Amino acid sequence: MSERLQNLKAVITGGSDGLGLAIASAFAAQGAEVWLIARSADKLAKAAESLKATGATVRFTAADLTNTADIERVGEEIAQAWDRLDVLVNNAGTARYTNFADVTTEEIELQVQLNLLAPYLLTQRLLPRLLTAQGSVINISSTSAHRLIPGRPASIYAMTKGGINSLTKALALELGPQGVRVNAIAPGTVRTSLTRNMIAAFSDERKAAYEQFVKQSFALGRLGEPEEVAHLAVYLASPEAKWTTGSVFIVDGGLSTN
Ligand SMILES: NC(=O)c1ccc[n+]([C@@H]2O[C@H](COP(=O)([O-])OP(=O)(O)OC[C@H]3O[C@@H](n4cnc5c(N)ncnc54)[C@H](OP(=O)(O)O)[C@@H]3O)[C@@H](O)[C@H]2O)c1
Repeated sequence: MSERLQNLKAVITGGSDGLGLAIASAFAAQGAEVWLIARSADKLAKAAESLKATGATVRFTAADLTNTADIERVGEEIAQAWDRLDVLVNNAGTARYTNFADVTTEEIELQVQLNLLAPYLLTQRLLPRLLTAQGSVINISSTSAHRLIPGRPASIYAMTKGGINSLTKALALELGPQGVRVNAIAPGTVRTSLTRNMIAAFSDERKAAYEQFVKQSFALGRLGEPEEVAHLAVYLASPEAKWTTGSVFIVDGGLSTN
């Protein structure tokens, strides 16, 4: 059977863990060469090792994407090494759930810089390589852009993910005539470190209430697994999606149905 992403070159931010690692792994399994970006060099090396063990070709760079100098450095490194870029997955992101009245400027800056500004600047930096490949961008959004959860105050997170949806559409329109596609995936809650940390901070009572919420509010009655989102990213990166751009795809076990 032929590989769906054969010989494609893909950059995945936040590719050392969670959704990003699942996407990198699914891409590599379909023949793509992957380049992972995250802060911890140790975690990156471990992730690269696990992918290489399956026969994948992997590169990685440690960079803090909240820092514009790091974005420039990593963009330069990729542009030097690769003459074309087929897929950029803007996945690195973070969430802080703080009551609106207590949100600090630091929390706003962290989430805006990582969830919104980094995808913007990295895409801009790598645009010449995306143009050469007639490539595509996949932004990882969230159901939090359109479906808030009671008891989980997400003013900044929702704002950044709503922003990434708008950016997806604006770039799709602007870059479409030049042959570059831009889409977003909006996952519901998926079992990753981000989610585990959130649940670990709950009181026992809140944990029980959350379990109940998951059973009632997700049509499928459970949280998602990273791989269940990664399959859609493979489709969007592949030539099968060559007429698909400017769309935000919800993958949320049915959370948005109610
Ligand atoms: N998990 C969910 O339920 C869920 C639902 C909807 C949307 N999402 C979105 O999916 C994306 C991935 O989430 P996840 O749950 O997979 O997160 P995760 O398990 O916490 O992984 C985050 C990844 O991003 C990297 N990262 C974090 N801060 C970074 C920074 N400043 N610079 C560069 N890399 C950084 C992390 O590595 P280092 O720590 O080493 O930097 C790691 O590789 C995010 O955009 C998130 O908003 C997640």
